Amino acid sequence: MALKTRTLGKSGIALTELGLGLWAAGGSEWGPTDDRAALSAIDLGLELGVNFFDTADVYGDGHSEELLGRAMQGRRERFIVATKIGWRGFDGAQRRTAYTDVDTLVAGVESNLQRLNTDYVDLIQSHISFRDPTMEIFIEGFQRLKRAGKVRAYGVSTSDFEYLKAFNHDGGCASLQIDYSILNRTAEAEILGYCQAQGIGVIVRGALAMGILSGKFKEDSSFPAGDFRQKWLSDPEQNAIFKQDLKKVGELACLGRSGRTLAEAALQFTLLHPAVTSVIPGVKTPDQVRANLAALTAIPLDANDRSAIDRVTPAGGGRKIWPA
Ligand SMILES: NC(=O)c1ccc[n+]([C@@H]2O[C@H](COP(=O)([O-])OP(=O)(O)OC[C@H]3O[C@@H](n4cnc5c(N)ncnc54)[C@H](OP(=O)(O)O)[C@@H]3O)[C@@H](O)[C@H]2O)c1
Repeated sequence: MALKTRTLGKSGIALTELGLGLWAAGGSEWGPTDDRAALSAIDLGLELGVNFFDTADVYGDGHSEELLGRAMQGRRERFIVATKIGWRGFDGAQRRTAYTDVDTLVAGVESNLQRLNTDYVDLIQSHISFRDPTMEIFIEGFQRLKRAGKVRAYGVSTSDFEYLKAFNHDGGCASLQIDYSILNRTAEAEILGYCQAQGIGVIVRGALAMGILSGKFKEDSSFPAGDFRQKWLSDPEQNAIFKQDLKKVGELACLGRSGRTLAEAALQFTLLHPAVTSVIPGVKTPDQVRANLAALTAIPLDANDRSAIDRVTPAGGGRKIWPA
């Protein structure tokens, strides 16, 4: 059965409602990964009808893009590829990117294309989550790349409403990537409505709250070496937040009825909002691809389920899982 698609705002590009997030698959920050499993996950996604794949220059220091490039060989036309640029060489002291002129930005995106082994990407996104002195350079560079046919559309990944509006000052921004989940409904307050009014497609990240909304973690869960989620246990402030989240997950247990898991309910929740184009749960393995795609055919959330969600996190409420 073909997966349903939604149009990514003014770009006109049709994305499947569920795409694959390929940060963890790149092999950094989320514990051990296996390239063969990551490539099989991409293969399975494609076989089951997924057309949308999200990566970035910094995921696995480029390895995520390289893996996607390998997966696309000989069948590029079956993939809608979104990638990002911004954090490589970022100057923390000056809070500005390494892309201090348009030529450098354009050359940076050419490097994305090389790692992806392709001559164009469907969507290029600024990965910088706050307005910095190089924002105009990104916009001008993305527009030049669009004119040259090297990107089909451009957008930004941020939760900062003022920055989004500045980035879209001339109406050219086609997409927003944003953290949105049952635990973080802050985007509902203003941003999602703005996106609808402006023809900006919305790509949802963090729908599983980094795995918390699958219900698989407990207070005494452990995380492998190299997994940044270890901080949820070792850092007292993060540990207190983790415990609060687990309590909320306990209150959401009613969503995971027979025939539907909590993770499926969490993914379905994000797709209820009409501003949302596609949700991109992060995956490392084929099993996770299969499990997440099952959300699209599981029992839909009903009015009781939605009331339960509102009790745990009211519309527009919750906490930003990523500060950005
Ligand atoms: N600033 C940005 O632009 C930005 C920031 C964050 C993410 N992203 C993008 O958004 C994507 C998704 O966001 P995210 O990875 O932060 O969060 P997420 O989708 O909420 O969580 C993904 C993690 O949950 C676990 N998981 C996935 N499916 C599962 C399932 N069915 N059952 C149980 N656990 C499952 C996996 O980790 P384990 O198996 O290791 O538990 C996976 O890495 C990323 O891959 C990336 O493409 C972009």
